[in-house]
Amino acid sequence: MEGRIEYKRLLDSLTTAVLLLDEDLQIRIVNPAAEDLMAMSSRKAVGLFLGEVFVNATEDIEAMREALLVRNGFTKRLARLHLPLGKAVELDYTITPIDLDGELFALLEMNSLEYSQRINRDHFFSSTQATTQELVRGLAHEIKNPLGGLRGAAQLLARELPDEELIDYTNVIIDEADRLRNLVDRLTGYRKPLEKRSINIHEVVERVRNLVEAEIDGRGIHLVRDYDPSIPPLMADPEQLIQATLNIVRNAMQSLSSPDVKHDLGTITLRTRTTHKVTFGPRSRQPAVAVEIMDNGPGIPEHLRESIFFPMVTSRPQGTGLGLSIAHAIVSRHQGLLECESESGNTCFRLLLPYQREARIRRQPEAQS
Ligand SMILES: Nc1ncnc2c1ncn2[C@@H]1O[C@H](COP(=O)(O)OP(=O)(O)O)[C@@H](O)[C@H]1O
Ligand SMILES: [Mg+2]
Repeated sequence: MEGRIEYKRLLDSLTTAVLLLDEDLQIRIVNPAAEDLMAMSSRKAVGLFLGEVFVNATEDIEAMREALLVRNGFTKRLARLHLPLGKAVELDYTITPIDLDGELFALLEMNSLEYSQRINRDHFFSSTQATTQELVRGLAHEIKNPLGGLRGAAQLLARELPDEELIDYTNVIIDEADRLRNLVDRLTGYRKPLEKRSINIHEVVERVRNLVEAEIDGRGIHLVRDYDPSIPPLMADPEQLIQATLNIVRNAMQSLSSPDVKHDLGTITLRTRTTHKVTFGPRSRQPAVAVEIMDNGPGIPEHLRESIFFPMVTSRPQGTGLGLSIAHAIVSRHQGLLECESESGNTCFRLLLPYQREARIRRQPEAQS
């Protein structure tokens, strides 16, 4: 098989997961997208029989053998294949027999539906987010102007009041006007331009830890640090990342303090890692820094799981529902991703921040979103 290196280089640059199989359905080449999909390194997968990677897939494997025999490929939609560790992947796949230098091979292309659904969801979310922000900006303006007048009038009134006791009423007006103003400021506040510099991600995480350490004191919450000290620096705005991380950690603290938690073994874990080949957007795969915030609280209420990143979505009586939408906006403006997985006893928020080369940042000044 001459020119194999060239084939491999081509396959490596595809975002579609591709396996090259020999006649016996033994894996010969695995591209990085397929490594992701199978959650297995190429080193481990090469040489394995396809049935060892996708377990209990007898029917599919038989159909593939048949396709090779009659030299006629086929496509299967909405297949569900199981990986050895129990995870199932939903995918569309196409198998194509090919003759390479007189030897018979099969090319297996796999499109993970989870991946395309995620792209769709991300796209839907960003466009909805943009519309929401427009709306909020317009509304904020309309609210703030009359609010200023209202507050000023209440102050004037307070000075003219004959009876000291009536001042309580004007104070209510002033306090409530301030509260509204704060709310509006927080709603629109995440538009501050980024001030990026080269930072170590632990500056951010440790700062957050310091801030919350005092707050959790005596609340039976245990804070665990699990850092990878070898993470290289990245370009980011540390203040804004502190804000984003703090919002997420505070939520974890609140969920662990809720009456649903019967035990006092609440744990929040702060974990940092470098990850390879994160898919940011449909085409770009880059190494990234991952900051994970995990808690063993009751989990995000089922009916909110799809919407927690939208503003004003909250399950707490005193909540504003702004924490996560601000965190999401900050991470997005770093071209990163904010993901969340949650079930009872195990909630994980993951910030993924791509490393950005300084040169690129200078050439493309940050767009105002
Ligand atoms: N770690 C968590 N555990 C359980 N629920 C969470 C967690 N983080 C967020 N949530 C849910 O997401 C909602 C939205 O969070 P957020 O945007 O910060 O607003 P708020 O904290 O004001 O409610 C919360 O009300 C809560 O229901
Ligand atoms: Mg919050």
